[in-house]
Amino acid sequence: MAIEIDFSGKTVVVIGGTSGINRGIAECFAKHGAKVAVASRSQEKVDDTVQALKAFGGEAMGFSADVRDVDALKLGLATVFEAFGSFDVLVSGAAGNFPALAKDMSANAFKSVVDIDLLGTFHVAHAAYPHLTRPGASVVNISAPQAFLPMVAQAHVCAAKAGVDMVTRCLAMEWGPEGIRVNSIVPGPIDGTEGMKRLAPTPKIMEATRQSVPLKRLGGTQDVGSVCMFLSSPLASYVSGVVLPVDGGFSLAGASGLSSLMETMLMPSG
Ligand code: NAP
Ligand code: COA
Repeated sequence: MAIEIDFSGKTVVVIGGTSGINRGIAECFAKHGAKVAVASRSQEKVDDTVQALKAFGGEAMGFSADVRDVDALKLGLATVFEAFGSFDVLVSGAAGNFPALAKDMSANAFKSVVDIDLLGTFHVAHAAYPHLTRPGASVVNISAPQAFLPMVAQAHVCAAKAGVDMVTRCLAMEWGPEGIRVNSIVPGPIDGTEGMKRLAPTPKIMEATRQSVPLKRLGGTQDVGSVCMFLSSPLASYVSGVVLPVDGGFSLAGASGLSSLMETMLMPSG
């Protein structure tokens, strides 16, 4: 059976789509014919991404907004709806992360990550809901292994991403009757990304992370983009409410390797 992924004429919105994994996802959809809209805080990053997406030959647009500001999201998404029509695919991936031990983290530091990752995911879904194609829309939230693997120096991210996956499951139940599917993707360690720079800042930690992946390689943004396209294609039309790791098996053995290295980095003995 020949399988063709084609998003020609479809509208894809990627929030947090201006760098790293999410930009890779936006590029995958653009390469496969979609009209793609991206958003993030930095107008400069939005402009740069829109220009790059247009180079694939299709239409692209963007707006700047902070996912902590639901009204800004509503305004921006309304302009996308006016220009591109209803949203066939919504990818929600804006996030913030830094390694910090709970005892060293201010309440506002914890709150910032929860506000961006968890509240932001709700804001994006809530603001986009009126514009989703029904039936047929695919919503993909970008989660992280921290959602189900406790890690040293990641209490804020673990709490926030666990919440993201429960939002995924609850929305899959609430919006399923309208023909809207909602799933989470859990990327593993993805090469060249800001997330990896922050969590594996030394060559030693990076190598240990790579070794802890059963497939013995870091992922690429294309690995995540491909699965995002699959989940948003007719091939996955009966898949909703799943939390799908795209991690080369990284999460199978738990995060103990990365966790203990961060512990060594942040809690030097003596
Ligand atoms: P990244 O390059 O820093 O991407 C984050 C994106 O979100 C950027 O476009 C950023 O643009 C935007 N953003 C951040 N805060 C925002 C806010 N408050 N409002 C709106 N947009 C905001 O990071 P990444 O490493 O590729 O991570 C992307 C996603 O994958 C995240 O959800 C992360 O949790 C997840 N993930 C990453 C890895 C990894 O290996 N990197 C592993 C597991 C999960 P602006 O700065 O312009 O706002
Ligand atoms: N360790 C401990 N606390 C930290 C910290 C660190 N490395 N970095 C930031 N904080 C604290 C700040 O001190 C502040 O708390 P305070 O007001 O009590 O001092 C709080 O977090 C918010 O920081 P601020 O810089 O004002 O937040 P922001 O909204 O401008 O940025 C972040 C949000 C902190 C998440 C920032 O790192 C960011 O924008 N990240 C996006 C990119 C990213 O993280 N990519 C990887 C995705 S996996």
